[in-house]
Amino acid sequence: MDEREYRHDRARVEELLELATGIAEEAGQMLLAKRPARPEVLATKSSPTDVVTALDRAAEELIRGRIAEARPHDAILGEEGGDTPGEGTVRWVVDPIDGTVNFLYGLPDWAVSIGVEVDGEIVAGAVHNVPRGELFTASKGGGAWLRGERLRCNTGVPLAKALVATGFGYEAGRRRVQAEVLAQVVPQVRDIRRGGSCAVDLCSVATGRVDAYYERGTNYWDHAAAGLIAVEAGARLGGLNGRPVSPDMTLCAAPGLFEELHDLLVPLDPERD
Ligand code: IPD
Ligand code: CA
Ligand code: CA
Repeated sequence: MDEREYRHDRARVEELLELATGIAEEAGQMLLAKRPARPEVLATKSSPTDVVTALDRAAEELIRGRIAEARPHDAILGEEGGDTPGEGTVRWVVDPIDGTVNFLYGLPDWAVSIGVEVDGEIVAGAVHNVPRGELFTASKGGGAWLRGERLRCNTGVPLAKALVATGFGYEAGRRRVQAEVLAQVVPQVRDIRRGGSCAVDLCSVATGRVDAYYERGTNYWDHAAAGLIAVEAGARLGGLNGRPVSPDMTLCAAPGLFEELHDLLVPLDPERD
């Protein structure tokens, strides 16, 4: 790519990031203003504990509306509304509330997550941890940022000293396996954190609030934006045995720790059901 093309491409990515950031900010403010003291569960999805509130839907509608106003030809994949095809190369990947159980209980870690794909690759991402007032952003090749500061994940941390975030799916059988695997991980690391939002966990890797994150069963919208944020902060993101991130496994840590945690997990067969 020549220099002019490169600059044009960067400007386009930064424009998409600016839009994603503004929408994540607005959706977060709406959620904060409208969250009742005790939000009501409107429906359940994959299991009785996989809940959706009216505000998950309202936030996704707001986000979809803003994207459509600004860029009517783009595709959108949203957790609540599914896949809306577009006409060009851009697709928005939206989790209106990542950490709905935290949202329900009034715990402080839930986030609006908006990733932007161009030609199938995430190039921009905004994650708004609303209760903490933190807006994480990243663009491909442009770094990961929080409040004007460039983020760098922790490096040089050995597995035995690693603080590792993880999560559990909503289905009982899968949770049993996840707990079995975790029982083998706990004695090998500094400690474990279960924050309740995949997007926030990945941003925590990016800021160095945890050293690593792994989870079986996450969806694309959980990690689309935050995965880029972690990678732009220097982390490695992938699945097991050289595979990319998928619902089978999301693993994220600085190079070195990534491999150590990977090699601990593989023999535990964490992808079984
Ligand atoms: C969930 C959160 C949680 C993770 C689950 C996700 P939701 O997303 O990210 O931390 O453990 O795997 O499904 O349902 O709150 O959007
Ligand atoms: Ca989610
Ligand atoms: Ca969600």
